[in-house]
Amino acid sequence: MKRRSRLIALILLALVLTACADTLPRSTLNPLGENAETIDGLFRLTLWIAAVFFVGVNAAVLYVAYRFRAKKGDDREPKQIHGNDTLEITWTVIPALILATIAVPTIQTIFDLAEEPEGALQVEVIGHQWWWEYRYVDSGVVTANELYIPTDQPVFLSMTTDDTDVIHSFWIPNLNGKRDVVPGRVNTLTISAEEEGVYLGQCAEFCGLSHARMRMTVTAVSQGDFDQWVSDQLEPGDVDLESEGWGLFLDKGCSACHAIGGTDAEGGGLNPGPDLTHLASRATFAGATYDQNTENLSAWLRNPSDLKPMEPDSDRGMPNLGLNEDEIDTLVGFLQGLN
Ligand code: CUA
Repeated sequence: MKRRSRLIALILLALVLTACADTLPRSTLNPLGENAETIDGLFRLTLWIAAVFFVGVNAAVLYVAYRFRAKKGDDREPKQIHGNDTLEITWTVIPALILATIAVPTIQTIFDLAEEPEGALQVEVIGHQWWWEYRYVDSGVVTANELYIPTDQPVFLSMTTDDTDVIHSFWIPNLNGKRDVVPGRVNTLTISAEEEGVYLGQCAEFCGLSHARMRMTVTAVSQGDFDQWVSDQLEPGDVDLESEGWGLFLDKGCSACHAIGGTDAEGGGLNPGPDLTHLASRATFAGATYDQNTENLSAWLRNPSDLKPMEPDSDRGMPNLGLNEDEIDTLVGFLQGLN
């Protein structure tokens, strides 16, 4: 019995310690951008101050418990004390001073993070149930889930949702803290990445059935590669207007929710879906949750709720269009041509 509880304690401890791993692909303990480093600096400062007092207070408690322990055969009652003004004032003032001290760098950091950096790349972020829309203000690029940024420039995100949507939270742990994305409000967040690479993110505010599948990535590339990406994304969709795939795309009503640049498919509507102009240039789909490949896209068109649960009576999310296998093959081929 004792061995078993020790084993359970050990397993629990191991699980808790996994939270300390700083090599995870999604970790606040591994800051890889300026803002994330600012937060990390404040966290470590606070942690060390707290650690000093934690050790000091606990050492004092242990010392007192040992020093004044009951001795064998001594059953006298200890001296009874009621109140001690000096002591009580002291242990009120000291914590107040500690908190006031920590407040200085904390408030400074909050103001630093809120500032809009000069020369930032401006991107509008729109949270939807359950995917992210990005609109690049200067270039006009519109894309979904996978945000591209250049490494040597801060990126200023202005974030909101449709009026009929719910609260989400944008969070790329390696690049900055999380920020709520709220209907009827514009909240801002600055991110920047020092190294090229793909940074993983996750919606951090419960927003319905597929909250866990509302992910996103930030791909940081060199300025040259970024400029190339922008000009590729601005190209109209590669659509053959005579093709069976395009005909099916219109027939099944896909174009009511999904836009394809350079065609009549304007998307938007009451239940907007991701812009598909360059879907095939993206590595993932469905809230950056699934790899964009033939198998997954087919499963998605067969029944979207198998991959990403949608609320049955809701008018949100991707509906089941009741397609047959031939139609699915044709549409997947059409979608994968959109590169
Ligand atoms: Cu969006 Cu959780």
